[in-house]
Amino acid sequence: MTGSTTVRFPIEITRRIVGRFAGDPGDPRQTLDTVPASGGDAAAVFTDPIRFELERDLLFRRTAQVVGWSGEVRAPGSFTTKDVAGVQVLITRDGDGVLHAFRNACTHRGAQVAEGCGEARRLTCPYHAWTFDLSGRLVGQPEAWAFDDVDTDGLALRPLPVAEVAGLLVVGLEPDVDVHGALADIEAELGWCGYADHEVVATETYHVKANWKLAVDVNLEVYHVASLHRESLHPILVNHTVHDTFGRHSRHAFPMRSAGDLVGRPEAEWPAAAPISVVHTLFPSCAVLETPVSSQMFRIYPGRHVGECTVHLAEASLHPVGSDEEREGRLFGFDYTKAILSQEDFPVAEQCQRGAESGLDRFTFGQLEPMLQHWHQAWHDALAERKDPASP
Ligand code: FES
Ligand SMILES: [Fe+2]
Repeated sequence: MTGSTTVRFPIEITRRIVGRFAGDPGDPRQTLDTVPASGGDAAAVFTDPIRFELERDLLFRRTAQVVGWSGEVRAPGSFTTKDVAGVQVLITRDGDGVLHAFRNACTHRGAQVAEGCGEARRLTCPYHAWTFDLSGRLVGQPEAWAFDDVDTDGLALRPLPVAEVAGLLVVGLEPDVDVHGALADIEAELGWCGYADHEVVATETYHVKANWKLAVDVNLEVYHVASLHRESLHPILVNHTVHDTFGRHSRHAFPMRSAGDLVGRPEAEWPAAAPISVVHTLFPSCAVLETPVSSQMFRIYPGRHVGECTVHLAEASLHPVGSDEEREGRLFGFDYTKAILSQEDFPVAEQCQRGAESGLDRFTFGQLEPMLQHWHQAWHDALAERKDPASP
């Protein structure tokens, strides 16, 4: 019931969506906007290798990245590993409960000291068995005499900035990246999500032959559901979307058809988990989708070339999984998502990339695509600011 502690979504969001069913036209219409798609100059958004290198440097290496839920390293003695824009990162919570992040690269010769996730007091590199504790100290070397002229303190794992913000794990790939302030504009809006309790039940990685922004774009509007997802999602979802921006971050929410049943019913009778989904998109390219029963995180990174990207997808339960039945339920939902992404969304993102590469001069964003307008502007502004800090 509304007002109980188990309500899944803020009532304001549900209320706005139900208003759309009742005829509210929704958010103010955005003006039409376009972005250059191709053309060989420095503004070519999806095809220009020079802009692409700038993005990798400014938006990924020098900008904080949301990489997971803090529930992934809840217990002292737990660790997890992440690919973050091609950089291998190890995140640990040491025996004293202190969170750390490191380059997941052994200080002997660079092999990865951990894979996957789990609990451990120490991590042993598979190559020559150097062993590190969860605070990064080197605590064991086979044939240690061979290094008796090297300072052991200097062989600790290389730390990276890390913070827990609103239950999310935020890391930086360079020492001076501000991880604590990265979500300041949206942090207050994330409290209801309960991110710190989420438990990952499955992950998947995709290599998509499209610029990274095209893989973000597929998550930013519901306009395509009636056509691209005609058989899969359209019978379930309606494009009664509501949108908000918080600095560079955004939130959009959309309903299942059954939310239409709430029109005219007293709010006190609305279900605790309204049939809606809420997506928080966090600068520069992490989207976290909250459904009534689960959470999905999309981390989208540039690949090695301008026309390629990597998408890491994680499915989480809202609370630590209590039963096999619950786990199977989440895995079933995850398989469904994976099928839609791999058969419908990513193939069309690859088509858009080929369209840009064919010489199409502009992409056009209409009034049902306000999040695309916001995000392409945000990425553009971030590059412009960092290229020339003195520019207005
Ligand atoms: S690379 Fe890790 S022990 Fe040699
Ligand atoms: Fe889609």
